[in-house]
Amino acid sequence: MATPVHELDIPTMVFNEGNVAQRFGSDVVLPSDTWIVKSLFGYAVWHYDDVTSVLRDKRWHSAAGRIPEIMGITDERFLQRQGISILSAEGDTHLRLRRLVAPAFSPRQADRLRPFMREVINGLVDTVAAAGKADVAVDLCEPYPIPIICELLGAPKSDWQLFSRWANDILEIFSLDVASKLDLIMRTQDELDAYTRDLIEQRRSKPADDLLTDLIAAEEAGDKLSNDELVMMVNAVIVGGTDTTRNQLGCALGLFAEHPDQWALLAERPELAQRAVEETMRYFGAVRGTARFASVDIEYRDVVFPAGTFVSVGLAEANRDTAVFDEPMVFDITAQKSEQPQLTFGSGIHYCLGQALARAELQEALPLLARRMPNLRLDGPTEWKPDGVGIFGPAHMPVTFDAGH
Ligand code: HEM
Repeated sequence: MATPVHELDIPTMVFNEGNVAQRFGSDVVLPSDTWIVKSLFGYAVWHYDDVTSVLRDKRWHSAAGRIPEIMGITDERFLQRQGISILSAEGDTHLRLRRLVAPAFSPRQADRLRPFMREVINGLVDTVAAAGKADVAVDLCEPYPIPIICELLGAPKSDWQLFSRWANDILEIFSLDVASKLDLIMRTQDELDAYTRDLIEQRRSKPADDLLTDLIAAEEAGDKLSNDELVMMVNAVIVGGTDTTRNQLGCALGLFAEHPDQWALLAERPELAQRAVEETMRYFGAVRGTARFASVDIEYRDVVFPAGTFVSVGLAEANRDTAVFDEPMVFDITAQKSEQPQLTFGSGIHYCLGQALARAELQEALPLLARRMPNLRLDGPTEWKPDGVGIFGPAHMPVTFDAGH
């Protein structure tokens, strides 16, 4: 007979001193004799099997829409303003949105942007190559995703600065002091909404070769996205596609700076790019975890999780599960460590919609940087961003490298 989770004697999650990145490890101490611990808002699982079981079980719903509530926000205007998003939608609503938008996010569409990605990353390295030193978090990672998201959406170069500001302001939604940023976030969302509606009108009358045009045209069995849904998707692309990519690039560079042999190998053999990206994201993913809540009473492993129970899902820890990966604590871009995928893009119905684009961005950036920044070394302490709601990366990462490439 299954036992309600709150009747079990479950240990509480213990946090390591310092932060996760200082040793490219986990920020929590996980007991080996249990598969579940109590966490800040509910419970946490971290074994590969449990993580994938929870993420693939549709009765566990995304906690994304409940972040404001978890952070203690009660401002009605703010809560209403957030509306429905693909990140938090469930059931038929999510299925419909996902079916309509998926073709616009295909690997083929991402591949179209690869030459542009190379142009952007080359342009950024040009600004630091002669000096042989840089703050890679600020000089390369921070600016990299914005032009690409703009190009993807079909926004002109003259608006890159605007998008950069919007992305930064809207992403405050993930900061720990979100409560003090509500007005700023809402004002920015209004500006972005007005901009997107204008762009939608332009694309309706004059279609172009971009994501927005594809999304406007997206149709299945006579069903189409409404204007509100198009605006929501642009918002989701900015929220999901900027900070994640820049932080993942930052984590990757920190990791390679500590593994010079792997960096030299990537410069020599750029064909390793695909595997290098998977191994980097497995070993040191920028999205450390996500969360779900039980939409109904759920029985799992002889335990009942009553409706409403929160469960944090440790993607970073699952990526180092010895039951799934060979030598998970060794960073090696030549090895295939498992038949199973790394989990930094999640799993199940909310599996990252932008994964093809993100993979392409990293696959283009890393070998190019390895070639142009040989002998990459850390040049002083890295300042890591505070642990927010699951996304993690460097705020400052001073490095030196051989100049003039
Ligand atoms: C390295 C970069 C990225 C990482 C690590 C990442 C990670 C993730 C993860 C873990 C999820 C699932 C969250 C959950 O299950 O709770 C997700 C969902 C999502 N991502 Fe990404 N992402 C990245 C880049 C992108 C990009 C470039 C875009 C857009 C162009 C994007 C758009 C989205 C969207 C729209 C969703 C929601 C999908 C849904 O709910 O159906 N992501 N991402």
